[in-house]
Amino acid sequence: MFKYLNHLVISKFVMAITGLYLGVFITGHVIGNLQIFIGKDVFNSYAAFLQSLGELLWVERIILILSLVFHIITSVYLKLYNNNVKPQKYAVTNYLKAKINSRSMIWTGIMIACFLIFHILHFTTRDINPEFKHYEEQYSVAKLIPTDLGFNISYDQGLDVKKIRHDAYKMVIDGFKDPIVSIFYIIAVILLGVHISHAMQSMFQTLGLNGPKFTPFIIKVSVIYGTFIALAYLSIPLSVLFGFLGGAQ
Ligand code: HEM
Repeated sequence: MFKYLNHLVISKFVMAITGLYLGVFITGHVIGNLQIFIGKDVFNSYAAFLQSLGELLWVERIILILSLVFHIITSVYLKLYNNNVKPQKYAVTNYLKAKINSRSMIWTGIMIACFLIFHILHFTTRDINPEFKHYEEQYSVAKLIPTDLGFNISYDQGLDVKKIRHDAYKMVIDGFKDPIVSIFYIIAVILLGVHISHAMQSMFQTLGLNGPKFTPFIIKVSVIYGTFIALAYLSIPLSVLFGFLGGAQ
């Protein structure tokens, strides 16, 4: 009994910690992506900055992949464990048991994983639309030149340097101009929102932050946060579909 309880506690902690990291990534990623509304230059500079991180980017990717792998393996383990254990064997106070539908978590999780494979082939390796690999943009780098007044930024002829970078803005806009792709993204991010709002409640419970007063508050915060994430992500494909974004590329 104790052995199983230990496994259960460790597994739930692995779920909570890996989920927390994935949540931080998802939040950071959407904030980065929302810069697309500021403009092409800002978005492409941000994409180029990420690429320039080099080894650091790979460290982040490895942590991300490990978190994802452990999150999935542990969720399957917990699912199998739950299938084999009668509910009355739990001795832990569980204010949320009735609210969190673990079956829906598994299914939204599987669909998000499928989306992620598509998404990486779409925007990272760009194998779904190989033409995206060749989207490039020429941009100007201002040179600091001394003036009588001190240092000033000048774009005078001969002083700005032309450089080439990947046109991530055009890639995202063209990617979402396909209504089937956009609808697929919209469905996926709605499922992500549902998954996050359930997962956050579950994570607080696992970390022992629950109680008759605290839990209803956490449920509200989790639903608001999941909804925010879904709306923030889906605003991009929706804006492209309705022509609010990418008109003047
Ligand atoms: C409107 C929705 C989204 C947009 C516009 C978007 C945009 C992008 C872009 C442009 C890249 C490529 C970055 C690069 O290689 O320079 C990327 C990579 C990625 N995205 Fe998204 N994304 C969206 C939704 C999501 C969602 C919902 C998730 C997670 C569930 C996600 C997870 C990732 C991951 C894991 C990568 C790979 C990161 C890496 O290569 O380091 N994205 N995304």
